[in-house]
Amino acid sequence: METVLSVSKLTKNFGKLCAVNQLDLEVKRGQVFGMLGPNGSGKTTTLGMLMGVVNPTAGNFTWFAEPASHHTRKKIGAVLEHPIFYPYLSGRKNLELNALIKNANPANIDKVLNIVELSGRQHDKYKTYSLGMKQRLAIASALVSDPIILILDEPTNGLDPMGIAEIREIIKRIAADGKTIILASHLLDEVQKVCTHFAVLKRGTLMHIGPVDEVGKGEEIVEVQAFHDDLGVLLQEFIGSATIKKEDGQFQVMMKEGFHSADLNRFLFECGIVASHLATRKKSLEKQFLEILADAK
Ligand SMILES: Nc1ncnc2c1ncn2[C@@H]1O[C@H](COP(=O)(O)OP(=O)(O)OP(=O)(O)O)[C@@H](O)[C@H]1O
Ligand SMILES: [Mg+2]
Repeated sequence: METVLSVSKLTKNFGKLCAVNQLDLEVKRGQVFGMLGPNGSGKTTTLGMLMGVVNPTAGNFTWFAEPASHHTRKKIGAVLEHPIFYPYLSGRKNLELNALIKNANPANIDKVLNIVELSGRQHDKYKTYSLGMKQRLAIASALVSDPIILILDEPTNGLDPMGIAEIREIIKRIAADGKTIILASHLLDEVQKVCTHFAVLKRGTLMHIGPVDEVGKGEEIVEVQAFHDDLGVLLQEFIGSATIKKEDGQFQVMMKEGFHSADLNRFLFECGIVASHLATRKKSLEKQFLEILADAK
């Protein structure tokens, strides 16, 4: 898969404060790449550097294996700060102006209005739009030049649950349309729901990077309860057990990769034991995220 963004040792200091610290990243074509981190972890600063609006202190990055230039930036659409639209013009008119400035094909306007589900409200004045509609118009405006990459900073900030769900659907639709997306978010479930890959930042430092669907792999935990005196000893004999913990009267078996609760159940059954409780807990991204952050202390 083609690498669209390669970041090496990217650093930004604001005076004494190190906002981004020797960041290394790679984003490949077709990924929905999430930058996850708490407030102040350096997400916006990183996106700012990638978009050429913040000067790096050190390090470098390439877009499409080329140093950033006017040429590479034309392939990127971004929604960084609150975009400026004309309040008394319609959503469509605003997009037309945008397309003109960017020298984009006006034929894209209908397509992007459709993608962000604003076709029905395209002729209404911008000032009558809800926050969610404004955000959708901002995404449409970033897409109007048909970029290869779409960059979004906290795309659902300030929206109600309905608005959040709409934006997430739209992001998935844009990804399905073949665009590579890089988005910053401080919300775990957002990254889990929309991203294919993610990086975790803490105080400007990269803590973790990898595919979202590999989170939790080999980390299945099975809770077991059974009326048997030597259950703990027996569980150790099960070849799928990695580690065993006892908590609140029940055993928690951390499984080795490739083993599942059904294997454990079969093992117990063959030992003549019927479990009174057997439940699988996948380690959630949230847990791992918290662990990653805790490790950094
Ligand atoms: N222009 C600036 N001058 C000084 N410090 C800055 C500037 N911009 C950002 N910072 C600092 O850099 C750090 C990272 O900020 P940044 O906005 O990149 O974080 P973030 O991860 O986007 O946070 P949030 O989730 O709140 O948007 C913060 O400590 C912030 O105060
Ligand atoms: Mg930010």
